[in-house]
Parts: sequence; C-alpha cells; structure tokens
Amino acid sequence: MASRVHIGILGAGTVGGAVHDLIVNGHLARFGVDAEVVKVYTRTPEGKPRYGTSPELFTTDPYEVTGHPDADIVVEVLGASGPDDLCAQKDWVVDALRNGKSVVTANKALLVAHGDEIWTTARECNQAVRFEACVGGGIPIIGPLTQSLSAERPAAVYGLVNGTSNYILTEMAQRGRSYGDALASAQALGYAEADPDADVGGRDAEAKLLLLASITFGARLEPGAIHRKGIERIHAIDFLYAARKGRGTIKSVALARNAGGALEAMVTPMVVPDDHFIARIDGVTNAVFFKGEVSDGGSPDAGDWDYVFVGPGAGGGATAVAVLGDVHELVARSGDTPFLPVESIVSGVSSVRPEDDLRASFYVRFVVRDQSGIVGEICQVFGDKQINVSEIWQLEHTEEELESLVGAGKGGAASDEILPFVITLEETSVGQLRQALERIAQKDFVLAEPLWLPVWRA
Ligand SMILES: NC(=O)c1ccc[n+]([C@@H]2O[C@H](COP(=O)([O-])OP(=O)(O)OC[C@H]3O[C@@H](n4cnc5c(N)ncnc54)[C@H](OP(=O)(O)O)[C@@H]3O)[C@@H](O)[C@H]2O)c1
Repeated sequence: MASRVHIGILGAGTVGGAVHDLIVNGHLARFGVDAEVVKVYTRTPEGKPRYGTSPELFTTDPYEVTGHPDADIVVEVLGASGPDDLCAQKDWVVDALRNGKSVVTANKALLVAHGDEIWTTARECNQAVRFEACVGGGIPIIGPLTQSLSAERPAAVYGLVNGTSNYILTEMAQRGRSYGDALASAQALGYAEADPDADVGGRDAEAKLLLLASITFGARLEPGAIHRKGIERIHAIDFLYAARKGRGTIKSVALARNAGGALEAMVTPMVVPDDHFIARIDGVTNAVFFKGEVSDGGSPDAGDWDYVFVGPGAGGGATAVAVLGDVHELVARSGDTPFLPVESIVSGVSSVRPEDDLRASFYVRFVVRDQSGIVGEICQVFGDKQINVSEIWQLEHTEEELESLVGAGKGGAASDEILPFVITLEETSVGQLRQALERIAQKDFVLAEPLWLPVWRA
C-alpha cells in the first residue's frame, strides 16, 4: 500500500524547483511513496516554471508553508545572503517543527549558524531534521555515517567537498592554467558564483566540515575556529613542483581526525601523493573518505581510508535526489522514534587541537631575488626554530612564470633575478612554521609571501 506524504517547500530556486519536479513526476512512487506538494514559498512566484499552471500552490508568506494543515514534511531549500536572512529562515524552520512537521534541509549555512536552536526544538517537539543534501550535494554521506557505520569508531573523515575549488585546481594541474583563468572558466560554466569567495576561500567547505565533524565526532566547532586556507594563492608552478618533485598534486582537503583523543580539523590545500585515491578525484566531483578503527583492524597494512563516497557534489537534480532520499527515510520511519539529532551521537574526542598546534610536514614555496647565501639563511631560521629541512626542490621556469609569481611592482625585480624554489620540512607545528616564516619574510631578498601547504599524511 502506498504511503501518502504531503510536502511544503520553502524555496523555489535550483534545488526547490528540482524537488518539485521529481515529486510531480512520481520519483518516489516505485518505493510506494505517494508524495504531493501542498504549498511552495518564494518571494517571487511569478516566473517560476510551475506558477503558470498551478498559481494556487505558491505563496509569498513562509508561514503558510510552515503552518499548512496538510503538510507532513517541510523541505527547506532557501538561499541566504546574510545573518538576518539566516535568522528569519531559522524562525521558519522552528515554526514548522513546533507545528508538528519534520524538516528536510539542504541549507548548511542555516545549520552551522543556528543548529543548536533547531536541534533543541526538534527534540522538544519530537520531530526530525534531516540534512543529507548539506554535505556533498548528491552523495549519500550523512545516512551512511550516522546509520550504516554507526557501530564504527571513527578515526578520520575527510575529502573534497567543494566542487568549485576542485574544478579550479584540476584545471591548473592538468592544463597548466593560471588561477585566474581557471576561475573564469568555472564561472563561465556555472560552477562558481559571481562572488566566489565562499568557495575558493574555503568557507563553504568549512561549513560542511563542521557538520561532518559534528556527526562523526560529536564535536561542536564554531565557524572561523579551525585552520582554514583558500586556494587563491596557489600558482600553476606549484603543480609542477608537486608533480615532478613530490610525485603528487594539490587538492583542497577538508579534514577532521581523532589525533590521540584531540580533534584536528582543517580546510586547506594540501600536497597529496599520486597513489592516494583522492588525487584522482577531478573536476567538480566531490568525495568523502572515512576511516574507522574497527574496519581498519589495527593492521599496519591498512590504507589511509576504509570507505569512500564519490559523486556529484552539487546540481539541482543530484541535490533534489538527496532531499527526497531524506523524505523517503522519514516516511519509512514514520511512527518510529525520530532520527536522532546530531549532538546525541557519541563523540570519541575530548578536546579540539588549537590551530597553532596542528602538526604536519610542509611544502613551502619561496620566491626570492637571486643572490648567494639565501638558502643557507632560510635554513638557518628553520634550524633556530628546531624545524628540520627535508628537501630543497628547484625547477627551470619560463619568463612568464617568473613574472607572474612576483606580480606587478614587487621589488622591481627583472625576470632573470627572480628565483622560485621549494623547501619541504619534516613534521612541525603550524605555530612554529608561522614564527619561522615571519622572520624569513623580513629578509630583503623575499619577493613574495611564501606559500606553505601541509603534505598529506593519514
Ligand atoms: N544548488 C546546489 O547544487 C546545492 C547543493 C547542495 C546544497 N544547496 C543548498 O540548497 C539551498 C538552495 O540552493 P539553490 O541552488 O536552489 O539556490 P537558489 O537557486 O538561489 O534558490 C534559493 C531560493 O531561496 C530564495 N531566497 C534566496 N534568498 C532568500 C532570502 N533571503 N529570503 C527568502 N528566500 C530567499 C530564492 O529566491 P526567490 O524567493 O526569489 O524564489 C530561491 O527561491 C541553499 O541553501 C544551498 O546552499 C544547493
């Protein structure tokens, strides 16, 4: 017998429109779910594809959706441009929960900003909030981490969770494009917003990582409190060094891991080895890797990951599929205890490691005015800070590469005076490295701020 479910939708953009289409086209029917849209909120109903045929379905009052007497589930797929918008959207979600509706959301920014109040309300009202589409778009990751793998003891969760950044880095790596060219191409193809800062600066990936860290380790992290670095300063030559000298490439990785009971979390471009599967995830594709202690079995031969989830990290259709997967799950569970809010999941970590205490081996790219004794001076500073140098890498460069590294006006150096090279460092802390680089930056031969990236380790 089919289960009937009535759905109200907050939002009628790319994802909202796709959710509406899939419901109307009976995409859950093969599993016996007879879904119907009862109301859609948008500020601008005119011009929405279904407005012409069904104007009565649309409203400009969100409370007509959250309080709709027939709605069982409210799907929240709103965009937002600032804290006030998120606050209003939180009020709508809370209203839906108080009216006895479960909520399915794709809005990670909302959960990161107002998760506490939303989970508390959900618990008080005995309603569920599901958010599969918030991380990895169409990749099923929240369900596996919270249900299929619930008996695992998490060691690490990490991956490529921002398609825009991964597309840009892939273009730079494979086609030798500059950062600016690759970004322009991402924008032309609709992979990047006109204002790409949240994507290329790592804020979007950070929001997703906070949700992943929360469901994996029970860790409550604030935006801005973890080590976050964008991809804007990566240069095409960094891929040459990573590939020719480091047998690897550069990927923007979001990572949370249990390091001896302390949680390490970061979003940063990293040098990753070619033989790690993450190096082969290209373009806008997303991937989330999970490492568990049980499946790892303590084997010294175990790899860097035990499970990997790969798929479309964005797109209206893929995201709508994830949203409706949550709807299906809610229908299948109706009458059961509601899906547990994030914070009740067992933690396994007792503290969060401060940014300066994060430890890694590092890739540091210098651009200096060529003169004798420079490498010795730099290594001396590292030595003073008890940082061991591992290798020094140098490649031949074209005049164009050299000039683009220094940028207009910096030091007035001619191309034959510009010398880039890379120093790799044995494991040290972010704090120690920063102190050393601050001292090196004062040297008059430094033509550009050194770029430093962690080198991947499990
Ligand atoms: N697109 C993806 O691939 C993707 C993937 C994963 C998650 N998400 C998330 O899903 C949500 C929707 O994304 P989308 O791509 O569908 O965005 P979108 O196309 O921009 O649509 C957003 C909807 O919210 C409405 N809206 C925007 N700002 C609003 C505000 N301040 N107050 C009230 N309504 C507002 C929009 O305008 P109108 O009111 O004028 O209709 C529209 O209906 C976002 O939270 C996004 O992060 C998207």
